[in-house]
Amino acid sequence: MGIRIIGTGRCIPDKILNNDDLEKMVDTSDEWIVTRTGIKERHIADDQTSSSDLATVAAKNALENAGITPDMIDLIIVSTVTPDHAFPCTAAIVQRNIGAGNCPCFDMEAACSGLLYAFNTAYGMMSSPLGYKRVLVIGAEKMTSLVDWTDRSTCVLFGDGSAAFVLENDGNPDTPDFYVAGEVAADGNAADILIVPAGGSRNPATIKTVEEKQHFIKMGGPKTFHLAVTSMVNACRNVLEKSGISPDDIVWAIPHQANKRIIDAVAAKLGIPEKVYLNVDRYGNTSSASIGICLDELNREGKIKKGDLILAASFGAGLTWAAMLIRW
Ligand code: UT7
Repeated sequence: MGIRIIGTGRCIPDKILNNDDLEKMVDTSDEWIVTRTGIKERHIADDQTSSSDLATVAAKNALENAGITPDMIDLIIVSTVTPDHAFPCTAAIVQRNIGAGNCPCFDMEAACSGLLYAFNTAYGMMSSPLGYKRVLVIGAEKMTSLVDWTDRSTCVLFGDGSAAFVLENDGNPDTPDFYVAGEVAADGNAADILIVPAGGSRNPATIKTVEEKQHFIKMGGPKTFHLAVTSMVNACRNVLEKSGISPDDIVWAIPHQANKRIIDAVAAKLGIPEKVYLNVDRYGNTSSASIGICLDELNREGKIKKGDLILAASFGAGLTWAAMLIRW
């Protein structure tokens, strides 16, 4: 088909919150956070900055990297659990901010798996009779807008950031697609173990929901940890089997950056620890931006070359999970 990733970009807020800062806010320690999660610091957006602002900067950087102008974009998909508003969609605000004409725009919500869900959706829409030629796929999160800064079990984990990608179909049947194989899945039976209970139609905002801190992330950490490892390992194995690619041929493995212990366990089970890219120490968990930030860092630092095989895997609320094999 000829569908490739032709540009990448990211936006990371300047302000850093490190573990020493958190020690002053809750009963925690740098030692606990580093040993249990691998996180040393995370970047946090200021009060004036929303997810669409982070997405806009990442999108502009990706367009510049691709060498194309905003009017050449046919579709914008933003993956986020922290949209600016219930509506309009964050993608439409990005469209306005970058001046992308009247292309279709929508948000996708599959939590930390959202970016891989969005890549699948974009690839499907580009391959379909819709025939979109150039698509912006963005993962953008202001996770700190959902963080309860008095809950030590969750507030140490998350950070803010965004990553964007320009996909292009060059129409040349001899150009190999970036998409080699993938799997997307979900288990709604576990919907309650990682949840923001209020603010939607189930529990609209009231003084009581605010007083009870129901607008913040609630997580069953150990259960989530266990499911994260098993589902990402299974999804990766399925994708490798479907594609006939051996783990030896993978150049980079990019697991969702939620916890270094989860990443280590997944890498050990797949037998590819030396191929894993890690930045959770610097950013914490940026949900659907996480894999994208890794990819943009690798691309801009010249650590991936044309034809390299990259295995990405993610896991998040829903529960959702996904794995995708990319040819650069
Ligand atoms: O991106 C979406 C998916 N999310 C994830 O993948 C997160 C998955 N879960 C995890 O990463 C881990 O479960 C956590 C990092 C959240 C927690 O690590 P854990 O090793 O599973 O710890 P735990 O929840 O079993 O808690 C162990 C102890 C508890 O104390 P007691 O009951 O043993 O006395 C907690 O109260 O650690 C305590 N604890 C803390 N202590 C210091 C929990 N949070 C903290 C903290 N600082 N920040």
